[in-house]
Formats: sequence, structure tokens, C-alpha cells
Amino acid sequence: MDIRFQAGGHAAWRAGAVMVFVFKDEPLAEVDSQLVEAAPWLTIAPAGNDFRAAKDEVAVLHGPPAFDIPRVVAVGLGKREDCTLERIRLAAAAGIRRCRDLRVENVGVVAAQLGRMAPTGHDALRVAEEVVCGALLGLYRYDRFRTVKDDERAEDPRWLALLCEGKNVPDDLHGAARKGEAVALGMGVARDLVNGPANIVTPAFLASEAEALGRKHGFRVEVLGRDELSSMGMGAFASVFRGAEEEARLIVIEHAPAGTEEQQPLVFVGKGVTFDTGGISLKPAAKMHEMKGDMAGAAAILGLFAALGERDLPRRVVGVLPCTENMPDGRATRPGDVVTTLSGKTVEILNTDAEGRLLLCDALTYAQRRWQPEALVDLATLTGACVVALGTEVAGLFCDDAALADAIASRGETVGDLFWPLPLWKSYAENLKSDVADLANVGPREGGAVNAALFLRQFIDDGVRWAHLDIAGPAFTAKKSALCPGGGTGFAVRTLFELVSEGIPAA
Ligand code: BES
Ligand code: ZN
Ligand code: MN
Repeated sequence: MDIRFQAGGHAAWRAGAVMVFVFKDEPLAEVDSQLVEAAPWLTIAPAGNDFRAAKDEVAVLHGPPAFDIPRVVAVGLGKREDCTLERIRLAAAAGIRRCRDLRVENVGVVAAQLGRMAPTGHDALRVAEEVVCGALLGLYRYDRFRTVKDDERAEDPRWLALLCEGKNVPDDLHGAARKGEAVALGMGVARDLVNGPANIVTPAFLASEAEALGRKHGFRVEVLGRDELSSMGMGAFASVFRGAEEEARLIVIEHAPAGTEEQQPLVFVGKGVTFDTGGISLKPAAKMHEMKGDMAGAAAILGLFAALGERDLPRRVVGVLPCTENMPDGRATRPGDVVTTLSGKTVEILNTDAEGRLLLCDALTYAQRRWQPEALVDLATLTGACVVALGTEVAGLFCDDAALADAIASRGETVGDLFWPLPLWKSYAENLKSDVADLANVGPREGGAVNAALFLRQFIDDGVRWAHLDIAGPAFTAKKSALCPGGGTGFAVRTLFELVSEGIPAA
């Protein structure tokens, strides 16, 4: 669905349906006087009488077909004082889905309405971005492997237009809508990669996706293979990929528009385990298929770059994506094996299913040696323990830099990615002692998410601004909502985009 704009006021507006967002106990006809001019039948449409504007309630009001605006799709927001940006995203998604079900080809939203529905602390531009993004996410579906198309499957609306009153579309409104479009596209990229089965979405596939993004948008992309990684000394990463027939890759992707080449980059490191069987410490069969999504950290970073490619942001950003399968095999790492990481520290691998930290530690060392990151943020579906601690909708946020932690949590909340702080208590590092090596790759089951974060911390140099995001819970979901049909969620794409666009506050 394209995003468009119509200027010139209500006399010039044309759309098969206009979506309006209505608060409970506030009359539908007072939503927008311009709209009532364009669709005067709205005030007497019978369906309007029955509409209560409860959360998730959608009503379709029909006018005489000859009008330039023959339909209004009213979406309830519930009580004004309870309204959040998430509610607005859900409403936009529910409204556009109804438009699709109705086979409406062109949909409008009155721009002037957006400011009036802004929750406290947010403005019209933010609402415009959220409505556009929510509507696009609402249309997302993953059906590329269905050969028998459902007869009921409706095509997406062709466009969604913001209807403006003045002669021109304000630049800032245009920018906000385009930003919403870009981040929704990025989330779609991440969702597709997470939903893609592991026989298709291999490390090589992720590398080709990165290269395609590079060609399209001018990102620099480097891809290292198995032999290079081994000879560079990435013994921890190598211990994960040695059991895999499918060849591992380390993908480096860089956004450095003219004039930013000398900036200290923001560096994002994403776990790219395209399938996690657990290795020799094999996982149980139930739900193992979900481990096709164990590359959601890497997918979020590729989604970020897809979004960056659509916008023009003057900041240097680097993505580092260690990608491999974790497989049991005759050559696979055995529990008890000792490996030497890129940093020189040795690790005793007590459990081959704690593989994420092994590839991340080498990628983090690599990132710090190669760049002086302005901030270093890793994203990983790292531990089941984090899901036990926080539930499936919230990511664990491990960060001792208060300004960075606050930026992640507060911008995340705005855009719908929830993060909750978990501790990096130094004393827990005792848990990772090994009898034979510098470190063990697992500690006790208790505090598993903290143990994993403390393992990574051993590889962070003093003074580096670092955050670890454990996204095992929210990266994929079994729950369907108007915003997501289940499966990959695109979690963290928008938060990363906000970090890039707004910058990182000083420590
Ligand atoms: N990829 C898993 C973590 C995971 C679990 C992600 C559930 C998403 C949903 C990770 O590699 C893993 O297996 N972690 C182990 C660590 C343990 C062996 C210390 C876990 O969480 O059980
Ligand atoms: Zn894993
Ligand atoms: Mn694992």
C-alpha cells in the first residue's frame, strides 16, 4: 500500500473510504468539520447511532455512492484519557484491515484529526507516523509458501492518503508519514526473515539480503566466510558453526552518508542463529521449529538498514551479524570442549545450547577492535530465562550506562518496543567460573538471563558504552493482534531507528 497526500481541502479530497478515530463519549459527527463538509451524509448515517467507540470497535458508515467520499470507517479508541500510541497503532491497523476486507482500494485519513487525538506528551507528527506505521503493519501477512490462494484473500488497498486542509502538504507531516512508512517496511523485512523457514533463511541468504540492501541504498557490505573467521581467531564463533553443513557468515553492513565517514559509528551486533537445535546439548522436539527465529537480532538490524535506506539520516551506523546454524554433527563441539575466543580469553563450553553468547562475544570483540563505537548495542534471542523473568512481550535491557539505558527504554516505549532493566551484578560473574578455562559458557539455571549478559560483559572494554538487549520473548509471538498476525514481530527495529535518528544522549 502506497502512502499519499491530498492537499487543497475537503473539496479536493477523494477516497473510497475515510478512516476516522473516535473517542468514547465524543460524538462522531464532531470528529472533523472538514470531513462533515466532504461527507455531509455522515451526520445522519444510521450506523453512527449504534457506534460506541469502544476500543477495537469498528463501524462502517455508508453514504450515497455518488459522493467523493462514500464511506467512513469509524474506529473506536476507547476513553480519551486512556489513549496511548499503542492504542492508536492498533486502531489504524484494525481500520485498514476492515477497509481491505471491504475491498476498498483507496483510503483517506484527515490530517487535522491527528493532532486532536495525540496522547499527552505527543504531537500530531508522532500520531501521523504511528497511524501510517500501524496501518502498514496491520496489512502485513506472510503467505509466500501458500500455493493454494484463499478465495477470500483480499488485495491490500492501493493507497492510504493523508487529507490536508491547506494548499500544500506541510513538509513535517510529509516527513513524519514517510518515516512511519520506512519503519513499517523495515519491520516487514525483519518479520519476513524471522518467519522464513531455516532451509531458506540460511546464513548465506542473510548475506545476500544484506548485499541486496547494500546495492539498493549504497551501504558498504562485507561478508566473511567460515575459513576467514577461523583464521581470524574467532574460536568461540567457530565452535558454534563447526557442526553445521550450511556455511556460516559474518556480515558487516555500514551506513555512512557523505560527511559522516569519520564519525564514531553506532554499532549494532545481532545474533543470527538461523536454526538452533541446541547442538550436542540437543533441545527437546516440542517447539524446536520456533528456533528458526533465533536470528531475530540480526533480522532487526537488517530491518533497521532497510528503513535507513528510505530516509536520509546523517549518522554513521554499522551492523555486525554473526550468522550460523547450531547443529549436532560428528564435527560439532562437545560439552566440555575448550575454545579460545578472538579476545584471547578461553571458554569451556559446558552446554552447546548456550551458543548465542559464543558468537556474540567474538563479534563484540571484533566490533571494538575495528571501530570506536559511539555506542555498542547487541540484540539477541539469548535466553529462555529472560522470557521466564519478563514474559513474552518485553525484552531484557542490560546496561550500566544510565543515559543509554533510558534512551532505549523511553524511545522503545514510544514506538511500541518494551524494554525492562535487568541487572549486571558483578558478583554474579562468579557463576561463570570454569575448572579448566577462563570462563564457562553457562552458569546455574537461576538468573540465566543475567548470567548470559555477564558472560558478554567479560568481552566489553572499559569505557565502551554498551547495552545488551535480550529479545527472546518479544521477537516472535503466538498471539495474533491487529498489528501482527503472529510469528516474527519486527521487535526493536523502530527503537534502533529512533536511536539513529535522535542520537545517543551524552553519558
Ligand atoms: N535461542 C535460545 C534462547 C531462546 C529460548 C530464544 C526460547 C527464544 C525462545 C538460546 O540459544 C538457548 O538455547 N539458551 C539456553 C541457555 C542455557 C543452555 C544456559 C536456554 O535459554 O535454555
Ligand atoms: Zn539460540
Ligand atoms: Mn541455544
